Amino acid sequence: MRFLPESEDVSAAVIGLAYVGSCVAGALAERGVRVVGVDTDARLTREFAERHCRFSEPGLPELLFSGLDSGALRVTTDYAEIAGVDVVIVAVGTPIREGGVLEDTQLRAACENLSGHLREGQLVLLKSTVPPGMNRELVVPLLERSGLTCGVDFGLAFYPERLSEGTALRELRSFPIVVGGWCVDSAAAAEAFWRRGVGVDIIQCSSMEAAEMVKLAAGR
Ligand SMILES: NC(=O)c1ccc[n+]([C@@H]2O[C@H](COP(=O)([O-])OP(=O)(O)OC[C@H]3O[C@@H](n4cnc5c(N)ncnc54)[C@H](O)[C@@H]3O)[C@@H](O)[C@H]2O)c1
Repeated sequence: MRFLPESEDVSAAVIGLAYVGSCVAGALAERGVRVVGVDTDARLTREFAERHCRFSEPGLPELLFSGLDSGALRVTTDYAEIAGVDVVIVAVGTPIREGGVLEDTQLRAACENLSGHLREGQLVLLKSTVPPGMNRELVVPLLERSGLTCGVDFGLAFYPERLSEGTALRELRSFPIVVGGWCVDSAAAAEAFWRRGVGVDIIQCSSMEAAEMVKLAAGR
C-alpha cells in the first residue's frame, strides 16, 4: 500500500504532546506501534521522562508510563527523530484568539519544522482543529517546502479530534475515527493505519474538507 508499509511493525511520531497528543501516543504505543512523541516544550518532555503527567485524564499517566517503561514510547524535543518513522501525527495547539480568529503559530512552526525532516513514502495525519480549507491552503504548501509533493511523495489526511475529557481513552479505543484524505491512496493508508493502530471502525469522508466540516458541525 502506498504511504504505509505492509508489515505489522509500524512506527509513528506524534508532534505536540499535550492532552490530545499524549492520549493518542499512549493508545498507539499500547497497541504495539513504536511511537516517538515530539514537543518543543523541554519541560514537558522532561516531566514525562521523570514519570510525571501534568494532564488530568483517568488512566493516562499509567498508559504513558507503561509505554515509556517498555520502550514502545519515547519522548523528545528533536524533530530529526521524525525521519525514521512511517506515520507523522500533528496535534499541536490551534487556540482561538479574541474575535474568533484561529491562532496558527504552532501549526505553522510544526509544519515548517516537519518539512525539514519529511521523507518520501511517509503518511502525515493532521489532528489539530482548523477551519475548513486551512489544511489545504496553509499546511500543504508548508509541507511541500520539503521538495516533496503531497499525494505523490507523501500521503496526507485529516482526522478531527472528537474525544471528551474524562472519557478520552475509552472513546479512543472504541469510537469510530473520521478520516478525510488528500487523495484516495492517502485515505486508504490512513484507514489501514488506524485499523491496525487502534482497532476501531473508520468513517471515510470524501475529502479533507468534508472531515473538517464534520469537526465544525460537531462543534467541540
Ligand atoms: N484538549 C481538548 O480537549 C481538545 C478538544 C478538541 C480539539 N482539540 C484540538 O486538538 C489540538 C491539540 O489540543 P491540545 O489541547 O492537546 O493542545 P495544547 O494547545 O494544550 O498544547 C499544544 C502542544 O503542542 C506543543 N507545541 C507547540 N508548538 C509545537 C511545535 N512547533 N512542535 C512541537 N510541539 C509543539 C506545545 O508545547 C503543547 O505541548 C488543538 O488543535 C485543539 O484545538 C483539543
